[in-house]
Amino acid sequence: MSGTLVHTEGESNTSAARSAWSARLDDPATRRLLQRDADAFLHQSLSSPCVTAIAKAEGIWIEDTAGRRYMDFHGNSVHHIGYGHPRLKAAIKAQIDELCFAPRRFTCEPAVELAETLGQLAPGDLNKVLFTTGGSDAVEVALKLARAATGRFKTLSFWDAFHGAGFGAASVGGEATFRSGIAGPLLPGAEHVAPWASHHCAYGCNSLEDSARACASMISYVLGREGDFAAVVAEPMRATPNPPAPGFWKLVREACDRHGTLLIFDEIPTGLGKTGRFFTCEHDGVTPDILVVGKALGGGILPIAAVIARRDLDVAGDYAIGHYTHEKNPVTTRAALTTIAIIREEGLAERAAELGAYAMDRLREFGAGSAHVGDVRGRGLMIGVEIVTDKAGMQPDNALAERVYYRCLEGGLSFKISQGNVLTLSPPLVISRAELDQALSTVEAAIAAG
Ligand SMILES: Cc1ncc(COP(=O)(O)O)c(C=O)c1O
Repeated sequence: MSGTLVHTEGESNTSAARSAWSARLDDPATRRLLQRDADAFLHQSLSSPCVTAIAKAEGIWIEDTAGRRYMDFHGNSVHHIGYGHPRLKAAIKAQIDELCFAPRRFTCEPAVELAETLGQLAPGDLNKVLFTTGGSDAVEVALKLARAATGRFKTLSFWDAFHGAGFGAASVGGEATFRSGIAGPLLPGAEHVAPWASHHCAYGCNSLEDSARACASMISYVLGREGDFAAVVAEPMRATPNPPAPGFWKLVREACDRHGTLLIFDEIPTGLGKTGRFFTCEHDGVTPDILVVGKALGGGILPIAAVIARRDLDVAGDYAIGHYTHEKNPVTTRAALTTIAIIREEGLAERAAELGAYAMDRLREFGAGSAHVGDVRGRGLMIGVEIVTDKAGMQPDNALAERVYYRCLEGGLSFKISQGNVLTLSPPLVISRAELDQALSTVEAAIAAG
């Protein structure tokens, strides 16, 4: 792949800030474990070498092997209900005792109940479901289903997007880290357009609204020009985070309908309440043809993802489109059912909306007075703070973003950097207002230190 593709997330393994952090890891047991990790695992970007080793995860907190505690504002987007929710742990233990596995061609109560529950909760007539072990595999299933249903193979998705590490998912993704370094071609027919952006927009626009209109026009143009796309694949809100302008998805939905193209929404990190609605697409009032959820579905304990498709797309009964060993695992499906019940009964989507609005206001106010904050954006409890060298030109300051990241780690707060300069704050939805304030103070102080 060309070196011009964007590496859209992560802090580097080699920077001065990283070296300074590593030098402070003075605990010999941790150093030994990190060394064993580096020796034992195949190295890959964003995984090994690790920043430190973890010994405990509970609620919003993780604790490393040297006893340092961090609020986890990343959690790979699995920890909506906090780590180790007591009700979830009890439900998993009870399910293990009752029925621990369902071999292929046997079904079981929790798997069916989970499929029915997701079908009832999903918008429109999205109510035929398949489970996979991870999000990337669920994206593969969605791609296969779209091919089977349309008799077409092409997809249109966004440069810089991430949809998983499998060959199909990496093909529709647009990040260098997941596309380069693999000798040989990815999937044929996986075409891309530039995404919308509030600034530095590839369409040359100066506002989010104009950029979204230009992006939707480009999608419509490409779908019509080639006329044979199976699906548009996208996150309804990019988890970088980057919400669309109002009306964007309606335009894309109409373009898909005009050209016989399915719309696949990947809500793997953003779904299940994170953005303040149970499904992110509810913000835009647009129903996709296939919706994919994962990550937090297993409650931060077990791996499970789901493809939820329109009932009339159930057209591949003679083929194996998602033949996964743990397809109807009673324990992972019980975990998902219990997680959904916790999210709904504890009002966690509503909580994300309320706390997210509060945090966004506070960060915007701080940003207005800081020379380093370009933009604050997001939805619910998935918030991005863009770090810039120059507020007027919005030039990214990746070095400062990284210093802020390590200062926050020192201060007991872990999060992720997206697109090189966007502090991505995504806490569990069970966080208290006081804890949120504490974390925001840590971020603000780290930015203010320059
Ligand atoms: C938008 C999106 N899609 C797909 C995936 C892949 O999910 P998994 O890591 O479970 O395969 C991710 C993971 O980060 C994601 O953020």
